[in-house]
Amino acid sequence: MKLLTVTELLLAAAAPIQAAYTWQNVKIGGGGGFVAGFVFHPKTKGVAYGRTDIGGLYRLNSDDSWTAVTDSIVDDANWSKWGVDALALDPQDATKVYAAVGSYTNSWDPNNGAIIRSSDQGATWSTTTLPFKVGGNMPGRGMGERLAVDPANSKILYFGARSGNGLWKSTDAGVTFTKVSSFTAKGSFAPDPSDTTGYNNDPQGLTFVTFDSTSGTTGGATSRIFVGTADNTTSSVWVTQDAGATWSAVAGQPGTFFPHKCVLQPTEKALYLTYSDGTGPYDGTLGAVYRYDITAGTWKNITPVSGGDLYFGFGGIGVDMLKPGTIVVASLNSWWPDAQLFRSTDSGTTWSRLWEWTSYPSMNLYYSQSTPKAPWIKTGFLDVDTKDLGWMIESLVIDPFDSDHWLYSTGLTVFGGHDLTKWDTTHNITIQSLADGIEEFAVQVRPRLRTRW
Ligand SMILES: *[C@@H]1O[C@H](CO)[C@@H](O)[C@H](O)[C@H]1NC(C)=O
Ligand SMILES: *[C@@H]1O[C@H](CO)[C@@H](O)[C@H](O)[C@H]1NC(C)=O
Ligand SMILES: *[C@@H]1O[C@H](CO)[C@@H](O)[C@H](O)[C@H]1NC(C)=O
Repeated sequence: MKLLTVTELLLAAAAPIQAAYTWQNVKIGGGGGFVAGFVFHPKTKGVAYGRTDIGGLYRLNSDDSWTAVTDSIVDDANWSKWGVDALALDPQDATKVYAAVGSYTNSWDPNNGAIIRSSDQGATWSTTTLPFKVGGNMPGRGMGERLAVDPANSKILYFGARSGNGLWKSTDAGVTFTKVSSFTAKGSFAPDPSDTTGYNNDPQGLTFVTFDSTSGTTGGATSRIFVGTADNTTSSVWVTQDAGATWSAVAGQPGTFFPHKCVLQPTEKALYLTYSDGTGPYDGTLGAVYRYDITAGTWKNITPVSGGDLYFGFGGIGVDMLKPGTIVVASLNSWWPDAQLFRSTDSGTTWSRLWEWTSYPSMNLYYSQSTPKAPWIKTGFLDVDTKDLGWMIESLVIDPFDSDHWLYSTGLTVFGGHDLTKWDTTHNITIQSLADGIEEFAVQVRPRLRTRW
């Protein structure tokens, strides 16, 4: 009997398989993995996307399922495009979608990053390669969005880069980008400067770009733009009032912790910002939530908990565009006993919780939870985890056209529901896994070798 080498075995096994089978995507169902950002279109109902750190970009369908839209642009040589570090929609054109793709800014990634753009909701794409790498699976990937389209001018985009590369601007709808020399803040924080791999010692750079659609225009471009940086020693939130010609640190800002999300509520003319003492997505032992009143130029600390109850940072924040003053914010990582979510209907003056201790260890859960679209979660994974609500909650959004419809991502899956306003009436909502179509599992095929020797 001749013993075959592994290579000979694989060749023997693979040849007939290729001839006999057609290959299709594996469908586990109900998603597995982290969605680092969701963006709903602000003006067209039903248009929304989710970006993942290792599994590409997905478009939301009306039946709560998701369709993968970037699988076609990823190939073996360009595997790193599975990482999506930022996502942007054009407020004036719901057919357009943009994303910053690339997995790592260090040597692990063979390619420079790219801004990809689509004019048909992700059916086809054009690519502009950037002169540097993009870190879709790097620390800080849940902050943002660090890519945005000017709501007053579809040709203008800004991208906040990592690694000290600064702020980049396009004036031709994402075809070309040039560095914004007037923006000098770098966001030099790195989680572990002593790391030599380039992963934890890479400067995290710029973390969000938020246009103020209420600010009017300067030369056909939105006048006021806020940009976040990974900086917890001086200022992390910067603003221009003249469409990017000059920038300054926003006065009176916290100046401590890292801003993760910065969401404009145009009717309130206010920004809601979540802060954590780490850049995420796994960390955070302290944090804050702030409301910035743009008209008055004042910051208000609206952190929902204090003292011993505050042992985590804040990540996702959902702002209800139909009910000014209504927001939901999540702990980024509350590792025990579970995540906590807080809701306010008065712009953060008072809050209520999604669960409470009654008499330890008993809790009142103001929700029920099910996973019919992802049965593997309850029957396996979740039953061995104390955390039903999840962890790594960097992203939480309320549908701008439906106050009941919301989504949030954990490290495990996407949760959400269709009765969020019951929080304010019966104080009891239903949460389910809403990740059908999102596939981030690494599929490993173990061939059953039938070759005889
Ligand atoms: C990766 O994608 C870019 C942009 O589409 C392309 O120019 C480049 O040739 C690809 N690289 C490889 C190694 O295929
Ligand atoms: C900035 O954040 C890091 C990580 O949490 C922390 O080690 C450091 O002490 C912070 N710096 C300041 C000035 O707070
Ligand atoms: C909320 O509803 C669920 C499902 O009916 C129930 O199990 C739970 O006890 C309710 N929570 C409270 C605090 O009444």
